[in-house]
Amino acid sequence: MNVLLAGGAGYIGSHTCVELIEAGHSVVVADNYSNSCPEAIARVEEITGASVKLYEADVCDPGAVEKIFSENDIDAVIHFAGLKAVGESCEKPLLYYRNNIDSTLTLLEAMKRHNVTRFIFSSSATVYGTPKEVPLVETMPTGTPTNPYGWTKLMMEQILTDTQRANPGMSIVILRYFNPIGAHKSGRIGEDPNGIPNNLMPFITQVAAGRLPQLGIFGDDYPTRDGTGVRDYIHVVDLAKGHVKAIDYSADHTGAEIVNLGTGTGYSVLEIVKAFERVNNIKIPYVIKPRRAGDIAECFANAEKAEKVLGWKAELGMDEMCYDSWNWQSHNLNGYK
Ligand code: NAD
Ligand code: WQD
Repeated sequence: MNVLLAGGAGYIGSHTCVELIEAGHSVVVADNYSNSCPEAIARVEEITGASVKLYEADVCDPGAVEKIFSENDIDAVIHFAGLKAVGESCEKPLLYYRNNIDSTLTLLEAMKRHNVTRFIFSSSATVYGTPKEVPLVETMPTGTPTNPYGWTKLMMEQILTDTQRANPGMSIVILRYFNPIGAHKSGRIGEDPNGIPNNLMPFITQVAAGRLPQLGIFGDDYPTRDGTGVRDYIHVVDLAKGHVKAIDYSADHTGAEIVNLGTGTGYSVLEIVKAFERVNNIKIPYVIKPRRAGDIAECFANAEKAEKVLGWKAELGMDEMCYDSWNWQSHNLNGYK
């Protein structure tokens, strides 16, 4: 299978490249490097020993996307190419709506012209909004996202569902990711955020590396077991394998299917800090700060549908997530730079 990965040089995309190649697929990557660099793909080639066809392209640009579809026999598309910083999306909503929605429309239009019918989409647990109950099941109503980033994901789920309904031969798999962390076991690819990280694990690894003095824990008065926020952290390699399963599934499937990719287990911020300290034998200094605007107390998946429909289940636990996150960061103190 020849799979186009839009945004394939990014964190989840680069890990998915590795897993697809190792499962025997060919990959074509299109990325504008707005939040990544070509070095990530050079390292995918180093890990796999395969060559990756790489286009520096903005997938909102119809001409650039047309060129990729004309030059390659694409069987399926995985769309990772989105802007994802929640805070920035509040400051620059138009940038987020333009980039995230336009990229989806441009890819879908090119697919239609070239009779490509299989599309896997990176959605997010953020579409559930503030959960009324956990674990979150795909059939639960989506909520009201608290930021434009979340709205782009919810709007794109609607666009994809409508597009599939009008094109019944299409297979669309909407994957709702929970909180990906960790890195490839080689330590050669991993998460490399620009500037000060927004997300918990890259913040912890940068404290461990001495790049940041201490972690701020956003609130210890949530109604959770220790007062800190609970999330469903999933190893990025497990997540990447979920995409391989979705690609296999889409071969004999038509319809629009929504699937959670999570482990089904929630961990609190303090539990993550303690696990990281134990596994890596490094102290993480922290202070308790006020709650972060827009945060929720608890969010974790019911992961049964992924197992039933895709035959996929997360295999790696919190210790591997902590070990691999630090293995990547400690061998790449400044990321890919
Ligand atoms: P990332 O920023 O590392 O990867 C996204 C990639 O897309 C980057 O390489 C970026 O340069 C590229 N890109 C963005 N806009 C583009 C455009 N117009 N044309 C071409 N390339 C473009 O992020 P990630 O963590 O790998 O996330 C991948 C996808 O998964 C995103 O859509 C994100 O919203 C979604 N998601 C991520 C998380 C998470 O916590 N990491 C959780 C849920 C959903
Ligand atoms: C996890 C927990 C924080 C940083 C975000 C997006 C979501 C999805 C994944 C893309 C929370 C706490 C964090 C820090 C902290 N992305 N925390 N100190 O907020 O669950 O989800 O990323 O789709 O849409 O909203 O992830 O890693 O930012 O936070 O205490 O410096 O860690 O309050 O409880 P979140 P996160």
